[in-house]
Amino acid sequence: MSAEVKTMEQLVAELRARREQLKAGGGADRLAKQTKDGKRTARERVDDLVDPDSFEEIGLFARHRQTEFGMLGKEVPADGVVTGAATVDGRLVHLASQDFTVLGGSAGEVHSLKVAEAMELSLHTGTPFVFINDSGGARVQEGIDSLSGYGKVFFTNVSLSGAVPQISLICGPCAGGAAYSPALTDFVIMTRKAQMFITGPQVIKQVTGEQITAEALGGAETHMAHSGVAHFIAEDDQDAVHTCRRLLSFLPSNNLEDAPRIENDGDVDPNPELNTIVPVEPKRGYDVRDVIAAVVDQGDFLEVQSGYAMNMVVGFGRILGRSVGFVANQPQVLSGAIDINAATKASRFIRFCNAFNIPLVTFVDVPGFLPGVQQEYGGIIRHGAKMLFAYSATTVPKIQVILRKSYGGAHLAMGSKDLGADRVFAWPTAEVAVMGAEGAVEIVFRKEVETATDKAAKRAELIQEYKSTFSTPYAAAGRRLVDDVIEPADTRKHLAQALEYLHAKREQRPPKKHGLIPL
Ligand code: HXC
Repeated sequence: MSAEVKTMEQLVAELRARREQLKAGGGADRLAKQTKDGKRTARERVDDLVDPDSFEEIGLFARHRQTEFGMLGKEVPADGVVTGAATVDGRLVHLASQDFTVLGGSAGEVHSLKVAEAMELSLHTGTPFVFINDSGGARVQEGIDSLSGYGKVFFTNVSLSGAVPQISLICGPCAGGAAYSPALTDFVIMTRKAQMFITGPQVIKQVTGEQITAEALGGAETHMAHSGVAHFIAEDDQDAVHTCRRLLSFLPSNNLEDAPRIENDGDVDPNPELNTIVPVEPKRGYDVRDVIAAVVDQGDFLEVQSGYAMNMVVGFGRILGRSVGFVANQPQVLSGAIDINAATKASRFIRFCNAFNIPLVTFVDVPGFLPGVQQEYGGIIRHGAKMLFAYSATTVPKIQVILRKSYGGAHLAMGSKDLGADRVFAWPTAEVAVMGAEGAVEIVFRKEVETATDKAAKRAELIQEYKSTFSTPYAAAGRRLVDDVIEPADTRKHLAQALEYLHAKREQRPPKKHGLIPL
C-alpha cells in the first residue's frame, strides 16, 4: 500500500472529525452566547421539533462560492443553515433552521439554495415545510448572489403555497427582504426574542424622523396586535416548537390528503352548558370561545391570531377526531361587528382550510359590518368582500350555526346558505334579518311613528311586529336560509353528524387560472 493512500479507518476518522466541526457551527463561544441569550441553537431547535433520531441532514458539507470581502477559503459551516427531512409525531416534514452562530445566520447564495431545495423536497413528497428563522438577512459579502438566493426562496414559497402547509418560526432577527419568506407562508410563530421589519429603527429615523425601539417596531406583540403578521406568540424557542407540533397535528401533509383523524370515544351526548353560555338578551356579551370549547373534543381549541382583530375568532379544533376550522364572531369585542381586520383575518383562514381540505364550522352572532369613516376610507367594501369571496369559493364542507343575531350583509358574509353552506343550524335565539328591528322601523315606519299620539309606544309596537315577523329562526327556516332549528345542547351531535355525512363532498367549479379575490 502506497504511503499517500489513507486507510479506511483514517478516512472514517477524518469524516467524523469534519462532521463534528461542521456541526459545531460558529464554534463553542458563539454557541455559548446563543444559549446565554436565552435562545436554543439551530440544531437544538431541530432536535426539539422532530422525533428522536429521525433527522436526516441534507447538505452539511455545502460550501459558499464567494471569493471577495475576506470570504476566500473561509469556513462557513453548512453555509449557516441546517436543512433536511425528519418526522414529527411520525409524519414526514422538511425543514430549514438558520444558524445565527455562523455569520449571523446570514443568507448567502448557497444557504438559500439549500433552503429552496429542502422546500422542493417538501413539494415532491407532499410534506409540510418548516423554516426556523434566525438571521441578519442577506449576506452582505455576497451581494446580489445573496439577493438572487432570496428570490429563489420566495419563488419556491409560492410554488408550495396551497400544495403543502408552510410554517415559519421566527426565533431571532428577521429583517429586510428576509421577512418576506415568512410572509409568504401560511403561519408565522414568533418568539419574544424575535423581531421582524422591512426597514429597521435606524433607517426609519433617517427617512421619516420617527423614533422607535426595534422591539416596539417589530416584536412579537406588535406583529400580533397591530400588523397581523404573527399568528402565534411563543414564550421562547421551545414553546415555538411546541406550537408548531400542535399546529401540524391539525393539518394534512398536503392538499391531496385529509388531516389525520385522531382516535375518539364517539361521545356526542348533549352538553347542557351550551344552553346557558349565550345570553338570550341580544345585546349582552359573552365569550364565543366558550361555545367552541363546548363542542370540540376535550375542549381543545388552537386559536390562530388570538391577539389580532379579536372581534373575529378563528382556529382549529376537532369533532370526533376530525380537524375542523372554526370561524366565529366574538360578541365581547366591538359587539362582534366585522371590521376590515376581522374580514381579512377570517378570509385568510377560510382559504387556508379550503386549500387543505379542512371543513369549516362558522358560529354567527353579528350585528353587521362596523360603521365608521375610517372603515369606509380604509376600504371595508373591498375587505368585507373578501369574506363573501372566500366563503363562496370554498368547496370544503361548510356548516353555519346561527347563535343569535345575524344581520344584513354580515349574515351573508359569515358563510350563509346563499354562499354555499351545506348545512345551516339555528339556535332558538337566532334572528336572521336584513337589519336590526330598531333600524328597520326608523326607515320603513318613520311617518307612522311621527304621526302617532304616543310615538314611543308606536315605535315599540312596530319594532315588536318587525321582530316577530323576521327576527326569529323560524322565519329564516321557512325561507330555507336555515335547515334546522336545534337545541344548543345538541350542537356537537348535529355538527358531528353533518361532518360525517359531508365527508365525501366533492364540488366542481368552472376551470380557470384563479379567481380574483379583492385584495
Ligand atoms: C453578513 C452578518 C450579517 C449579514 C450579521 N452578520 N448580519 N454577516 N451579512 N447580513 C454577522 C456580524 O458581522 C457578526 O459577525 C455576526 O453576524 C453576529 O452579528 P452581531 O451584529 O454581532 O449580532 P447582534 O448584535 O446580535 O445583531 C444582530 C443583527 C445585526 C441585528 C442581525 O447583526 C444586524 O443588524 N445585521 C445586519 C442586518 C442587515 O442590515 N442585513 C442586510 C439586510 S439587506 P462577527 O464575525 O463580527 O461575529 C437584506 C436584503 C435582502 O436583507 C433582500 C432580499 C429580498
